[in-house]
Amino acid sequence: MAEQSSGQLLLGIDLGTSRTAVVSSRGYRHIIRSVVGYPKDIIGIKMLGKTQAFGDEALQKKSALVLYHPLEDGVIREGSERDYNAAFELLRHVVGLAAEGHEGKVSGIIGVPARASVLNKELLLRIASELLDTALVVSEPFMVAYYLNRLGNCIIIDIGAGTVDICAMKGTVPAPEDQVTLLKGGDYIDERLEAAIGQRYPEVQLTRNLVRTIKEEHAFVGEPDGPVTVTLRSQGKPAQYELTAELRLVCESIVPDIVEQLTTLIKGFDPEDQQDALDNIILAGGGSRIRGLPAMIADALREYGRIRVTVIDDPDYAGALGALRLATELPPEHWDKVGFASR
Ligand SMILES: Nc1ncnc2c1ncn2[C@@H]1O[C@H](COP(=O)(O)OP(=O)(O)OP(=O)(O)O)[C@@H](O)[C@H]1O
Ligand SMILES: [Mg+2]
Repeated sequence: MAEQSSGQLLLGIDLGTSRTAVVSSRGYRHIIRSVVGYPKDIIGIKMLGKTQAFGDEALQKKSALVLYHPLEDGVIREGSERDYNAAFELLRHVVGLAAEGHEGKVSGIIGVPARASVLNKELLLRIASELLDTALVVSEPFMVAYYLNRLGNCIIIDIGAGTVDICAMKGTVPAPEDQVTLLKGGDYIDERLEAAIGQRYPEVQLTRNLVRTIKEEHAFVGEPDGPVTVTLRSQGKPAQYELTAELRLVCESIVPDIVEQLTTLIKGFDPEDQQDALDNIILAGGGSRIRGLPAMIADALREYGRIRVTVIDDPDYAGALGALRLATELPPEHWDKVGFASR
């Protein structure tokens, strides 16, 4: 993408619960886990060689660090200075990477979980305005819709780590009643899967990270393609364990709430727009990769007639790319007229 003639660098940022993605008008792309680590003590500072670490580096050195996930459950916890600071540092880090070497103005649009865009507006805007010359904070499903160039008559289901955000797009910046946030996302599946494996195979040693890896490789709903067998360790020794039923059950556990909210949002479209909306149900976010999910959602809505549920092609960067696209098509001078902006 070409740089703006004014010499202004534009950024699109997706500040997610589990991952933060940034893209720039110069073609820069980067994604990191949304975690900041601060050394526990003086030895930690010595080991790290600095006073904070981000993303995978923070996770790898976690024994020496106190870790902060600034957007737990999709929002900055009210009154938590540490969460606020961690969100600030994380954004400063990604803006710094994307704008390295750039002399002129830097403006950016930040997509945040729908719940944060409703509850944490002021906080997020304060952070954004300290880091960028012009900033706009918008809800993440809207950014995904913008990426798809589908601003009306569609429903975006963004299955993230902390939350599932469902948003009915009606040709305007979505109103609060057009968005729903469910707190059962990928992290909830991991928690349930860990418990289910522990119950069936109490001897097996598990960590949450290991469970997440298993899920990311094998997640499915509906009829299995074949048995799911993974290598796990018990007493330090590896062995094969069969997890088909457990995986299916925990992955399917997020579906009924999603379907229920969909039926409510569908009713909110004008009747003549409902078929178009039903033809454009779009799954986004990391959880959209759960195999069999589009078919299961479509099947649950079969009473509504024709349904088309599709999965977005680039769930990692769609939100950030949508934000960049909006930033490019709508110059920063106009941002105070959309959603909430700061300059
Ligand atoms: N192949 C996969 N199958 C199932 N789940 C997956 C897969 N790949 C990633 N995930 C899950 O998707 C979630 C991360 O998705 P995403 O990056 O969209 O979240 P986020 O934007 O950081 O979170 P949120 O939208 O809640 O703020 C994690 O729970 C991750 O384990
Ligand atoms: Mg997200």
